[in-house]
Amino acid sequence: MATQERKILCVGLVCLDIINVVDCFPVEDTDTRCLSQRWQRGGNASNSCTVLALLGTPCAFMGSLAPGRVADFITDDFQKRGIDICNVAWQSVGITPCACCIVNSSSGSRTVVLSDMNLPDVTIEDFKKVDLSQFKLIHWEGRNASEQIGMIQRVVQYNATVPAECRITISVEIEKPRQDLFSLFGHGDVVFVSKDVAGHLGYKSAPEAVKKLYSLVKPGAYLICAWAEKGADAWGPNGAVHSDAFPPENLVDTLGAGDTFNAAVLFSLSTGKCIQEALTFGCQIAGKKCGILGYDGIV
Ligand code: ADP
Ligand code: FRU
Repeated sequence: MATQERKILCVGLVCLDIINVVDCFPVEDTDTRCLSQRWQRGGNASNSCTVLALLGTPCAFMGSLAPGRVADFITDDFQKRGIDICNVAWQSVGITPCACCIVNSSSGSRTVVLSDMNLPDVTIEDFKKVDLSQFKLIHWEGRNASEQIGMIQRVVQYNATVPAECRITISVEIEKPRQDLFSLFGHGDVVFVSKDVAGHLGYKSAPEAVKKLYSLVKPGAYLICAWAEKGADAWGPNGAVHSDAFPPENLVDTLGAGDTFNAAVLFSLSTGKCIQEALTFGCQIAGKKCGILGYDGIV
């Protein structure tokens, strides 16, 4: 068993975000200038690692990268933040994903066009190399769901062989409204479902979504749904939980708000806090993030 403090591992996407900050959203087929432009490491699981690192908890990222200049930028940034990337799956085919993002600092809105075309995803074979004793919680951003369920089953088997205090909490995020991802509902101790997915399934609010979708999660699990300025709701073994949002004075950048929320909730739960405290903390940190460009300054 690991002697150091056990980490949180996030499995999912890392990409390069090229972020243009504007004060007025451009009209199609016009040529305008932005207020500022920056490169930022992006991707849901990768952003959640940034937030976990800023919250001061040891964490690791697992996802795919293709060697090259974009990957060099990304790995430098992971290293600067002290995020463990030993488990990155280096691919010999495909291109590291890149997103062109427009952040409107007048409204805080974020518009993303992602190229995520041909880089193979992390497989069960890659995951078999992970030393599970290093981790207290593993979070999967839903992508290649059937492979990811195989990875989760490996953790379930591991958990059956270790004492209760060494078990790994399993968390999943279902963010994209794709049928194949819905098989993940039944596999997390903590399940995040997005407003987008809830909307596609016909739900009009977070409390309605978590209540109605709760039958899909495993007994004892928490189902959590964040809903921008409405805050977030959860359903768990003891029923409904809600936190209001904590809106910043000025909404300047909502890119990665959901990833920030997920990380802050998981951090809080991993330190033994109850679901109400975790939801409130998630909304506080995500609200703070919405008031600044990027992530530095959320704590
Ligand atoms: P994303 O679109 O990035 O997935 P969400 O809309 O689900 O993010 O929001 C995640 C959390 O971020 C919310 O629960 C809330 O706490 C915070 N948040 C997002 N947008 C706003 C906003 N406009 N005002 C206040 N808080 C916000
Ligand atoms: C934010 C984000 C960005 C990335 C995009 C991918 O949640 O992870 O960093 O460009 O979403 O969908």
